[in-house]
Parts: sequence; structure tokens; C-alpha cells
Amino acid sequence: MIRKYVFGTPIETDSVVEKVPQSEGALPFFETDEGAGSLTLTMDRSARVYGLGETVRGINKRGYVYISNNSDEPFHLEEKRSLYASQNFFVYKDKDTMFGMYVDTPGRVTFDIGYSEINTFSIIFEDFDADIYVVEGSDITDIVRQFRKIIGKSYVPPKWAFGFGQCRWSYMSADEVREVVDRYDELGMPIDSVYLDIDYMERYKDFTVDDERFPDFDNFVKEMKARNIHLIPIIDAGVKIEDGYDVYEEGVKGDFFVKKENGDRLVAAVWPGKVHFPDFLKEDARKWFGDKYKVLLDKGIDGFWNDMNEPAIFYTEDHLQEVFDRIEDYKGKNLDIRSFFAFKDLVGSIDNYPEDYKRFYHEYKGQRIRHDKVHNLFGYNMTRAAGESFERNEPDKRILMFSRSSYIGAHRYGGIWCGDNRSWWSHILLNIQQMPALSMTGFLYSGADIGGFSADTTEDLLMRWTEFGIFTPLFRNHSAEGTRRQEYYRFTDKDSFKNILGLRYALIPYLYSEFMKAVNNYDMLFKPICFDYPDDEMAQDTEDQLFVGESIMVAPIYRQNATGRYVYLPDTMKLLRFRSASDYDTEIMDKGYHYVKADLNEVLVFVRKGHALPLAKPAVRVDDIDYSDLTYECFECDKEDYELYSDDGISR
Ligand code: GLC
Repeated sequence: MIRKYVFGTPIETDSVVEKVPQSEGALPFFETDEGAGSLTLTMDRSARVYGLGETVRGINKRGYVYISNNSDEPFHLEEKRSLYASQNFFVYKDKDTMFGMYVDTPGRVTFDIGYSEINTFSIIFEDFDADIYVVEGSDITDIVRQFRKIIGKSYVPPKWAFGFGQCRWSYMSADEVREVVDRYDELGMPIDSVYLDIDYMERYKDFTVDDERFPDFDNFVKEMKARNIHLIPIIDAGVKIEDGYDVYEEGVKGDFFVKKENGDRLVAAVWPGKVHFPDFLKEDARKWFGDKYKVLLDKGIDGFWNDMNEPAIFYTEDHLQEVFDRIEDYKGKNLDIRSFFAFKDLVGSIDNYPEDYKRFYHEYKGQRIRHDKVHNLFGYNMTRAAGESFERNEPDKRILMFSRSSYIGAHRYGGIWCGDNRSWWSHILLNIQQMPALSMTGFLYSGADIGGFSADTTEDLLMRWTEFGIFTPLFRNHSAEGTRRQEYYRFTDKDSFKNILGLRYALIPYLYSEFMKAVNNYDMLFKPICFDYPDDEMAQDTEDQLFVGESIMVAPIYRQNATGRYVYLPDTMKLLRFRSASDYDTEIMDKGYHYVKADLNEVLVFVRKGHALPLAKPAVRVDDIDYSDLTYECFECDKEDYELYSDDGISR
């Protein structure tokens, strides 16, 4: 049962696609304080809160404060309150009460879940204009399912996008890309795509290709196609201001860029220096920008990633001027405790400066709205621009699309990756804990940068991270400029990496099948184990194991130098300890805690009672997976009990 409550004059977000009639009564569960613009609930000691999509910290969100304010945040530390996404859906559950709530408001909103006061859950609005949906159901899965139905079906990528993708900021030339593919192919390591980061462009201009570094790009795409390799270029939100650059000139002519209060176009800066931002919230601008992807689609490109779309701002021209003006005041002064820090703040906080987000306006649904009021919709509408364009321009074919910034609704047009994590062991755990919350909010095609984006990876960290990454739909190894190179072939134990990648490909029939079922039935692909064992105390406290689809539980190792880990089994299960898709041992294990050994190259998978796991022979491309040759690892069932979904993997 879903009820909708309306507060103030909400700005439509287009996140809910099914009509839910408005309820007359007062909002249940929370106390409403219209004056303060907040909702409060006194939490029982037994209360747990799940969801909120991409955030920091654990699966149970209780005990911290999370702010929906899409941010270019390169430090995913425990203390951070905002990351790149706003996915304002959560489930509250205590011993007597259980409900889901979707707080649909495009501006800043704070979820204080026992932070300011340990037993108080407050939702604090900057503008108390919101549609609030309350969902009740028989269990958490049922609540999630009902919610997912009203927000519409999740995006479906092409099946090849379940293959491995190698990324780096940046492969600087066609030859460098060739070398990557050659190395993978020579070693027989699977790979389906290589990502092109910002340096493929001519001076960071969207929808251009630098033809010195990537000469004859059309033929290069063909050459890669012939090897069954997909090239996936990045698209950034800012359009370079440069005379003669068609995208800039068309944007000016069509009046497609965001403007300041005085009507001048906002001048901000990102990679290329000064840029304008398209007004993705404006329908004709969205259509115009979306159609630009055709420039690359026509060259044979069939996948993209959208970036810097919170939007990230290095500086705005106006604020930079203010900073330069004020710097004068500090010249020649004795900078003491106060003035030194004030100076440091002045200069050090120019990027993503909060006031800059109040300097420009959108034309949204016939209204002129200041950006900060609809801030969290920006990345969503960039992805929507692409998604709607693909429907128009490639009606018969699925195109890969995922974004950094998001809001609920964007899940219909693409997936997300979790942004600039670091090569830290704790970020493997963060990746594990983010996945179920993303499943709850409909972002099924998701994943994190495996091996870590910033900082230098190590071989063991990369291996352990990959052992979890092989279960995430988006399976991409990515790292930042200046960090240690982390392509798998650069490390000592190439055989183990090859085997783990091979296991991914062996799992693809299962992962794709479970993914598609989760899309079609509005189910979660990743589930905390307590969702299926609500009365099991131990399961409630298990935050580092997940069900992936209906048949398996994974228990990844995310601690440095660990040679095993404690695993909690909420029921009897069959352990598969994989060294490769064909080399593994099995053991039936009883309900309870077990210390399970797993050498650095071993992956732990547990098959649930009454379920089966199909396994293919490893292949080096998704297209080469032989569906006629599957084996099944069954635990107290027959292989016929498993419903294997499959399709051509490409048509819509
Ligand atoms: C941002 C993205 C990252 C990318 C980099 C350069 O930091 O999050 O993935 O590599 O920009 O484009």
C-alpha cells in the first residue's frame, strides 16, 4: 500500500511514473513541524534504517547524518555527508513498525538518523516542498518492490556491458588502447570494453575527438569492433566556450545554456577552462544535447559515461573575480591565526563553492528556478538527455549509459558508478555496502572503480576487490592520472587474475538472468541477508555479506593480509571455494558462524538451499559465452528448478 502526502508546493521531479492519489490525513510515523520544515520520529532501540542509495557508512544507516546534495566529492570518508547522488528512499524497521518512505524533493534535504540525538530520526528540508510517499508491505522486499513499481523499470544495458571494462584516466592515444587490448588478448584474459577518459577529446570539448592522438577515429572504432571490443567515451557536463566550436555556438544560438539572474550565461570552469552548462532541465536543451551523442553513435560508439554532472565547478568567473579582489586585502599583512585561515579558506574553497550554485537559473516546466532549488536533478537530466536520445536515435539497440551524479528517475535511463573512491581496503567494504542500497532505489546497473580510483593500488588489494567486483553488473577497473597503473596484466600473479576474470564470465548467464529478473519483477539484485531472515538477530548485524540474486550469497574478503574470514550462514548452504570457474571445492556448511579460509586467489560463494547456480565455461568476450554448455551447482534442488532468463542481449 502506498500513500502520498504533499507538503508546500513541490517541484515535480519526474521520478515517480505511476499516479499515486494524494492522501488527506496527516503523515504517519513522523511528527510534522511545518514551521521548522522538519519531520521527526523517535526511534525504538530496535530500529534499523536501510536505503538512501549511494552514501558513506554501513548498510544500516542509523547513527549518522546524510545530506542529499549531489557533490563532486573525491574523499569518501566516514565523515562525509554527501556524495554524488540523492536517492531519498529508505525503509525504517523496528520490532513493531515497518515502512518505506520516499522523500521526493529536488533540493537539499538532511536525514539525521540518530546523529544529533541518538534516538531521533529527523528529516530536515531546506525548502519544505515535497511529495512524500509512504509504503507499507509484508516485508522489506515487498516494500521495495512496491516503491520500485511507482518509479518505473530500471535501465537495461546491452549484455556485453556485463563483460569486463578497462579504464584509466586516460589512455592517451589509439595506440595505447590497442596495447591494452593486445595485452589482455595475448594473455587470454577476458575483456569487452576499453574506456576513453577526457583526453580522447580535442581540448576537452564534448563530442569531439583529438585526431592527432586518435587519427581516423571511425576506422579505429571499426578495428576495435572487429576484435569485439567496445570503446566507451566519457561525456562531461560543461561545454567549452570557444568560438568556432559547433556545440558551443549551437548552444548559444538555441539559448540552451543556464543563465544568471541578469540574463547573462553563467561562465564556470571545468577541464577545458571556461564552460557553459546546458540547461538539462529544459526540454529543448535536453533534446539538443541528447542528439549530440549521435556524433559518436554514428562513428559506431555504443556506450558512454556521463561525468562532472553534479555539476562539478572548478570556479565561476564571478567568484574567481571576488577572490582576486579580496586577496588584495591580505597582501603585505602579518597573517595570524584568524586571517591566515580566512585567507586559506578564500583561496582553497573556490571549487564546488556553495554560493556558486545560487548564481544561475533553469527553465524548468515553464518556470524560472534558481539552481540550488533543483540542484539534485541536474545529473539526472543529463543522463535523461542521453537516454531519450538513444530511444530516438537507436530505437532497436541498447546503448550503455551510466552517470556519476543521479537522482531517482535517472535509474530508468542509465546506471551509475560510485565515483572517485580510493585504493583503500575500507573502500572494498564501502562498495559492498553501497550495492544493496542502490538496488533498493532502482540503480541496478552499478558498480565502483575496482582497485580504487585515487591513490596507488597494490596487487592484493586489487585481487580482493576484483573478487567482489565480479558480482557487480558494472565491472570496471579504473584509476586516476598520476596513480600506479592497475591493468591486470601489470601484476605478478597474472594467472590468478585471469582465473578470477574467467569466473566472472562463467557467472554471466546467472548474473544477467538475475539482473533481468530484478528489472522485470522490481526486485533487488543485491540484498542484505537480514532482508530474507528478519527474525535472525545475527543476520541483522551482518553487513559484509550479500545475497546476489536468488541463488547465492557472497562473503568477500576486504581486509589486508586476511587468509579467510568469519562468515555467518543464516541457513545451511553449500560453499563453493573458487580458484577458477573449473577449479573449486565444495562443502555443505551448517547455519551459524564459520571461519572460512580463502587464499588471496580464492573467491567464496555460497549456494542457498533449494537453489542452483548455472556456470558457463570461461570466455574472453561476452558474445563467446556458450549457453548450450552450462553446468549447474545445485543445493537440494535440480537444475530445472532454476529459471534462466536469456535474450539476444541487444534489442530493447
Ligand atoms: C572525475 C571522474 C573520474 C574521471 C576523471 C577524469 O574525477 O569521477 O572517473 O577519471 O574525472 O575525467
